Amino acid sequence: MKDHGLIGLEEGLSLNSREIQELYKRYMNPSLASMIGLLKFDKRYVRAEGVKVWDDSGVEYLDFLGGYGALNFGHNDPRLNAALERVSGAPNLLQASLGTLSAVLANNLAAIMPGELRHSFFGNSGAEAVEGALKMAKAATKKKRVIYLEGSFHGKTMGALSVTGRSKYQTPFAPMVPGCIMVPFGDQAAMEQELERGETAAVILEAIQSEGGVRILPPGYLEKTRQLCRQYGTLLIVDEIQTGFGRTGTIFACEQEGIVPDIICTGKSLGGGVMPISAFTTTAEIWDKAFGGFDKCALHTSTFGGNTRAAAVGITAIRMLVEDDLAGQARLQGDYIMRRLQELQERFPGFIKEVRGRGLLIGIEFNPLARGILNKVTGGKINQIAEEYMAALIAGELINNYQIITAYTLNNPNVIRIEPPLIITREQLDRLVNALQDIFQKYQSMWKFVLASGKKMITG
Ligand SMILES: Cc1ncc(COP(=O)(O)O)c(C=O)c1O
Repeated sequence: MKDHGLIGLEEGLSLNSREIQELYKRYMNPSLASMIGLLKFDKRYVRAEGVKVWDDSGVEYLDFLGGYGALNFGHNDPRLNAALERVSGAPNLLQASLGTLSAVLANNLAAIMPGELRHSFFGNSGAEAVEGALKMAKAATKKKRVIYLEGSFHGKTMGALSVTGRSKYQTPFAPMVPGCIMVPFGDQAAMEQELERGETAAVILEAIQSEGGVRILPPGYLEKTRQLCRQYGTLLIVDEIQTGFGRTGTIFACEQEGIVPDIICTGKSLGGGVMPISAFTTTAEIWDKAFGGFDKCALHTSTFGGNTRAAAVGITAIRMLVEDDLAGQARLQGDYIMRRLQELQERFPGFIKEVRGRGLLIGIEFNPLARGILNKVTGGKINQIAEEYMAALIAGELINNYQIITAYTLNNPNVIRIEPPLIITREQLDRLVNALQDIFQKYQSMWKFVLASGKKMITG
């Protein structure tokens, strides 16, 4: 054992934010810890309930980030904690038999899936669901290529990364998995051209690109792509990891396009924000082609996939989704906040370029600053921050002055996402709109805002 010894759970829970940052820097990711500190996001949250979280000084925050779509049910719903408690004495993993609760969860997932999607495989993360879906498509079609969209985000493991459309994430890890081809976002002709070349196992896409900056595909694009996939013997995989479980106003976002994919990937809120669990779900026919028969039934496995606790939470989460009509809530509250944000955009066009989204997955795109505008004043420092983390500056202002937690989208740093738990109230939504209005009124122009908050950041 090393000299610094072991830290116990109780001692760990009592560390302050400076001590945590030190440990994080020493034993985890030093630069990430520094960046979180620079943006003043380094709070120490100690309690969470519904849409609210509290830091160690008792300050209350509203969570408009919702765990990037993992917290559709809010924090710590007692029904989810009770589900964990209910199975706490049962074997969580055994592997020597069939998982009782994983089969129940698969039944329930099939009940809310569109069309004939029925057979599920459970993993632990969104990326793992994408990996499995891609493997399944290749095994079922015996084809080798996969088409994905520019701006997409499907995860950061090697296979999922190979279909994630942002070069920043791919380049350091080249070469990607062979046969993955990117097409421009929403370009139907480009999609058709690639499909025509044949040999394509799957098209993978998100009905709404969440990390891409909350981008909605052009009307009819998904329907046409569905038809083209059928025509060319290609499977359509829709990644509902962030858009699923009511987020966009229906249980799955693809339902609003009137299509049924061949494979749906889910994750995030499937575990109620409490347990890591993900799935890919397909038809009996595709399952059989890929994994049917004794020689193929164990081609794809995962030790913790569908464990008792994760499945218990998943079963409860799906029940809550249906009984509380969270999709309806997302539609109702989403329409309201969308209207209010659009009014804000009309009043402050210098700040907001566009507001877009569906249900409670909304992106606010800010106007980028003209290149170099701040260089003269700040010797380039703030410009660099503003270009890569423009929306993060707004998020920093929101959290530090208004106690509202938001974040920028990974593939478009000019966009902040509004993605709160679906149980959010109108009064809580109003707090965000009022805070933004306050910021815009106070600074009057984007560059004044960036200059002031960037300076604050640099000087601490
Ligand atoms: C659409 C989509 N797919 C896949 C993933 C990857 O999920 P995970 O981070 O659980 O691997 C994400 C995560 O943000 C996502 O938004």
